[in-house]
Amino acid sequence: MSDSRPTRRLGTDQASLAEAGRLLAGGALVAFPTETVYGLGADATDSASVARLYAAKGRPSFNPLIAHVADIGHALTLGTFDAAARRLAEAFWPGPLTLVVPAAPDGPICDLARAGLSSLAIRVPADPVARAILAAAARPIAAPSANRSGHVSPTEAKHVLADLDGRIDAVVMGESTPIGLESTILACLDDRALLLRPGAITREAAEAVIGRAVEQPEADSDTNPLAPGRLSSHYATRAPLRLDVERILPGEACLAFGPDLPPGTDRSLMLNLSESGNPVEAAANLYAMLRRLDEREPSSICVVRFSRLGLGEAIFDRLRRAAAPR
Ligand code: TXA
Ligand code: MG
Repeated sequence: MSDSRPTRRLGTDQASLAEAGRLLAGGALVAFPTETVYGLGADATDSASVARLYAAKGRPSFNPLIAHVADIGHALTLGTFDAAARRLAEAFWPGPLTLVVPAAPDGPICDLARAGLSSLAIRVPADPVARAILAAAARPIAAPSANRSGHVSPTEAKHVLADLDGRIDAVVMGESTPIGLESTILACLDDRALLLRPGAITREAAEAVIGRAVEQPEADSDTNPLAPGRLSSHYATRAPLRLDVERILPGEACLAFGPDLPPGTDRSLMLNLSESGNPVEAAANLYAMLRRLDEREPSSICVVRFSRLGLGEAIFDRLRRAAAPR
């Protein structure tokens, strides 16, 4: 398949969503909004479609994908859910949670989408546009974030086009995504519950549902097979990022969070994730603001210190990856 082709823009009316589902079922690559970030969909049961998806993203193919389905009953057939996984599914699906469980024996997800692992990541999104597309496709859809590998995840249709126009078949031109951070990933394997990626479903909320502690994976390294996608350098901006900053350098852009600005802030090079210090608003703004500051080509971008509790854990996780040496 050639690397360049016209990318169709689809609306969010019923007929367009049905068309998006039909295209996916026919093997096409279609980006669409979810409540977390925009995903790039491909038929998860068809290795040729998944191979094209990896190529379009420029993603290392050892990175397994999340299988998305429209309803919980369907999701439960794709894997083996222990008691904790079942409770989490009941409490948080549909929603911004991905569960990693043992893949059902002889399940439909192709090996390539699972990157050869015996476990499978499954998600039932809540966003009505995503659900309509998944229902129309009537099969599990692999959908990584719809960005070039290593770039910041897209929270607006225009971010998808900036990275993938001409490389994919269609984009559903929806609203900006309300949560703005990728789903929480919890692995329920071998009687353990592990937080592989923090997100809008907080560790605290998950612990309340399963009635015990959610563990942290031992190593968070590039070689840890438990969390293959958690490369320490990820979500990269072009400008280097400095975290927990109290003093701004000359020429530096600043990502603020809350009412207190560091001394020396140049307001033309500053964006505020949330002036009132609201973490939900901050998560929704994070990726778009990183893109906007990066476009001004500053020498570096500094981020003020903020609380790492609740959703703050997920926001800090993404910034730490964006700040990692590369
Ligand atoms: O919010 C989201 O989850 C978005 C939207 C589009 O649904 N999708 C998303 O997909 O963030 P992606 O591919 O960018 O991130 C999926 C993560 C990767 O880090 C991958 O390594 C991990 O899930 N993952 C997938 N299968 C896994 C498995 N069997 N075990 C451990 N991690 C897995
Ligand atoms: Mg991603």
